[in-house]
Amino acid sequence: MNKLLGIVGSPRRQGNTHVLVSEILEAACQEGAEAELVFLDSLEIAECDGCHACWKGPGCSKGDDMSGLYPKIAESGVLIFGTPVYWYGPTALIKAFLDRLVYFNCPENRVKISGKKAALAVPFEENDLGTADLLVAMFEKSLQYLEMELAGKIIVPGVTLRGEVQHRKETLEECRRLGRRLAQE
Ligand SMILES: Cc1cc2nc3c(=O)[nH]c(=O)nc-3n(C[C@H](O)[C@H](O)[C@H](O)COP(=O)(O)O)c2cc1C
Repeated sequence: MNKLLGIVGSPRRQGNTHVLVSEILEAACQEGAEAELVFLDSLEIAECDGCHACWKGPGCSKGDDMSGLYPKIAESGVLIFGTPVYWYGPTALIKAFLDRLVYFNCPENRVKISGKKAALAVPFEENDLGTADLLVAMFEKSLQYLEMELAGKIIVPGVTLRGEVQHRKETLEECRRLGRRLAQE
């Protein structure tokens, strides 16, 4: 059975991103998968400065909380990236996390991530679905570069207040369907 790692890139607890990612993970767990949720705002994740120490053997030079996340990523079969739209892109929290995945861009580390599945959960305020286009394209290209498969997307326009997505029954069911599917893959 699969292991899922949910990554909440919103600083707002009980917010829409948190609700979406939790719903996916809970459904996966009900199918027997293992799941863990991490909140990036509670972790110390410095900017990648491109020193490339991680490609040369000793590991990342930053010595921050990514040291604990790299093995969690390697042990998971699926990564769920959750971020609201912030100014037509991702939050700074999840962008810093994504930058640090440069760690996986050398052959020794690439094997620890290539072939894994990923899913995206993206709430935002505006009603136009195109609001998330740049963010989604950035993840699509980045995941392709990492040789990961984007196996599902939950894109939710028109949600503003903390946790208001709880009232979108169809969206929650979409999350649960995705969670059940990812548990099996
Ligand atoms: C700094 C900031 C920038 C935002 N930029 C956008 C935006 O460009 N387009 C949009 O539709 N919503 C934008 N929003 C609204 C959030 O995407 C929306 O409230 C979302 O539901 C928040 O998710 P959360 O509850 O998980 O934090 C922004 C919110 C903040 C705080």
